[in-house]
Amino acid sequence: MEPHVAVENRYQSLDAWHEVDSYFTEVLIDEDEALVAARLSGSSTTMPNAEVAANQAAFLQLLVKMSGAKRVLEFGTLAGYSTIWFARAVGSGGFVCTLELEPENADVARRNFVRAGVLERIELIVGPAAASVADLVSSKVEPFDVVFIDADKPRNPSYLEAALALTGSGALIILDNVVRNGAVVDADSDDPRVIGTRTAAQMIAEHPELEATALQTVGVKGWDGLIVARRI
Ligand code: DHB
Ligand code: MG
Repeated sequence: MEPHVAVENRYQSLDAWHEVDSYFTEVLIDEDEALVAARLSGSSTTMPNAEVAANQAAFLQLLVKMSGAKRVLEFGTLAGYSTIWFARAVGSGGFVCTLELEPENADVARRNFVRAGVLERIELIVGPAAASVADLVSSKVEPFDVVFIDADKPRNPSYLEAALALTGSGALIILDNVVRNGAVVDADSDDPRVIGTRTAAQMIAEHPELEATALQTVGVKGWDGLIVARRI
């Protein structure tokens, strides 16, 4: 039985999952120089290594393309890596609005948008996302087709509220980092990020116009996951 146990352990290790993630990323994911540069420039933001993994970005891009989305709203730009994937997904007639708190991250992102040739499809709004999005709501912008919530996790509930104010029927609302190494299952957690995510998940569950699921991810970013919700 020993070899069997050893094999089983191998497939239960994060190293093995990382290896598989790297394998499929290498085989399936096409990053041009601009995307590679954007991903690497994450290290010069205030949150190094927080950008989505390449294969997860490709998944988000597929969701945008499959849903025919033309307008994407993103909470949390950082170096703009996922923003570029979104901007390419919506095509030349599309639009991405991305919200970033830190001016120095926004500077990094802007350079990445220029390099990727997508600057004119993107509106980058610098400042607290809650205030930026409140301005969007009060200025009655055209509804968004996809909202990607990937900013400070304690505010996930208010970002979800804003997403609901800025979308209509058929829109997708996606929340990043909902697993965080399993911390999400702790109902007694006093971590505001866990509380923010659990509250948002509960709001989604109780909302009569949202249907949703969560997908766990393992690999180059460790153990994490996404909630994907669709507005009926
Ligand atoms: C963190 C935030 C993210 O959006 C992410 O993808 C990874 C990490 C963080 O808050 O640490
Ligand atoms: Mg994230």
